[in-house]
Amino acid sequence: MDIHNYEKLWLVLAMVMIVGFISTTTYGATALGIEMISDDEETIDPNALDEDPRFSEPRVEQVGENEYEAYVVARQFVFEPDPITVPANSTVTFYITSADVIHGFEVVGTNANTMVIPGEVATLTVEPNEPGEYGILCNEYCGGGHHVMEGKLVVEPEAEFDRGEADE
Ligand code: CUA
Repeated sequence: MDIHNYEKLWLVLAMVMIVGFISTTTYGATALGIEMISDDEETIDPNALDEDPRFSEPRVEQVGENEYEAYVVARQFVFEPDPITVPANSTVTFYITSADVIHGFEVVGTNANTMVIPGEVATLTVEPNEPGEYGILCNEYCGGGHHVMEGKLVVEPEAEFDRGEADE
């Protein structure tokens, strides 16, 4: 078979490019220490959330003078608890997990936004200063009721916040 010299050149160049693409992809995925999917995320059994002390009763808990932790479960097609009530001028760490499929958790108008993946616990910290009501949206398509999946974050004035309720 007679292959023209230019054609040989193109074949060689094509091979070089293919090898090049594979090496840069491999380099990018491994050598730079970038984790494509974080594997140090805490894992959790999405089918046994009711046996997990944090998620069996989704709630807001006071853990310090002005520090709160919110344990939130996303499931088709609600967020629990709803509303999530926290006091103003506090630091709230959200721990969010899913009981079924992938959901989103976005506090509208803030940069609090995370994916909620079954088997993982998403963590994010919010410092609500102003009392008010914020919508919570699911921004990952999660099934037929996705468009109605929403919750509410209520930031109460400090004086009105019922700490007893948060402790329950
Ligand atoms: Cu939950 Cu979309």
